[in-house]
Amino acid sequence: MTPTVAGAEAIREAVRILRAGGLVAFPTETVYGLGARAFNPEAIARIFAVKRRPLDNPLIVHVATDDQLHSVTTDIPPVARKLMAAFWPGPLTLVLRRAPEIPTAVSAGLDTVAVRMPDHPLALRLIHEFGEPVAAPSANRSGRPSPTRVEHVVRELGDAVALVLDGGPCRIGLESTVLDLTADPPRVLRQGAITPQMLRAVVGLVLPFTRTADAESVHSPGLKHRHYAPDLRVVLVSPEDWPQAIASWSRSGQRLGLIARTAAVPAPGRPSFERRFDTTSDFARSLFAAFHDAEAAGVQVLLVEALPREEGLGAAIMDRLERAATAHMEGR
Ligand code: TXA
Ligand code: MG
Repeated sequence: MTPTVAGAEAIREAVRILRAGGLVAFPTETVYGLGARAFNPEAIARIFAVKRRPLDNPLIVHVATDDQLHSVTTDIPPVARKLMAAFWPGPLTLVLRRAPEIPTAVSAGLDTVAVRMPDHPLALRLIHEFGEPVAAPSANRSGRPSPTRVEHVVRELGDAVALVLDGGPCRIGLESTVLDLTADPPRVLRQGAITPQMLRAVVGLVLPFTRTADAESVHSPGLKHRHYAPDLRVVLVSPEDWPQAIASWSRSGQRLGLIARTAAVPAPGRPSFERRFDTTSDFARSLFAAFHDAEAAGVQVLLVEALPREEGLGAAIMDRLERAATAHMEGR
């Protein structure tokens, strides 16, 4: 698979592949997606096979038009309309009632379907020219960090995908917020750039994300699986603990890496792999790319600064970081 700078010819080729039941990787504003024709069960099966994704973890269907939205769901409640008007195209996925035409494999057997309209010119153009909804999980192997750079898609999926459209680095860098609108009140199933406060400003009561067994196993099956785990050990460090963390991990003999906010880290004894970010948005945009780069640099222990959850993308970032740190402890 070679990345293709997405001109008109590349889009035409991508459309040909989707029509034939093949897979195409494409950029969105959140992360790169691995797309297939949503209405083709064999193409959907190919996604699960390539990602080695557990069959009980449903996919998000991407649409570019209102007609396409109507082909995916039987019911668009007024609250959904309000949210679409406020946040689409954008990083908000809505869980709605599934139309019978959507293959059950897309929704992992649930009677609901997750749908979003991505805010990326290439993604929208691809779906427009294809003329049908595109089912697309993140373009990584199951359990790994999502790719936010084209070279990381290639590293994750190799020759398993015929074409990857190159849109450069993704603007947001974390997966979309998932909101269940079949629950009353609506409930956040995955945290992302659209925060509960932003949702409440539009629709009133919204239940924030919780990690109850309920949410993980029933409402969002994807959350019970191992996630965001690079092939290295992720250790969270509170800002005030940096000097001590660097000193003690330096004695471990392992190759260290560091991801921090610019101000926090003292100069002496710094690890050779380092990424520093000024804001939580910069942090979010480059976190998964830093995971991939740290792996490639042979980092064994990656020290990552714990961020305040109240700040912008802080809560969404901390959710990914805690899972990445736990995945290692579970023996990945
Ligand atoms: O930003 C994104 O959402 C990216 C880009 C490519 O659009 N896609 C993405 O897809 O992150 P994926 O497959 O990696 O994550 C889909 C999430 C999983 O947590 C899954 O459990 C949840 O959405 N999901 C999908 N359908 C669902 C449904 N019917 N009910 C509840 N959760 C659902
Ligand atoms: Mg994913």
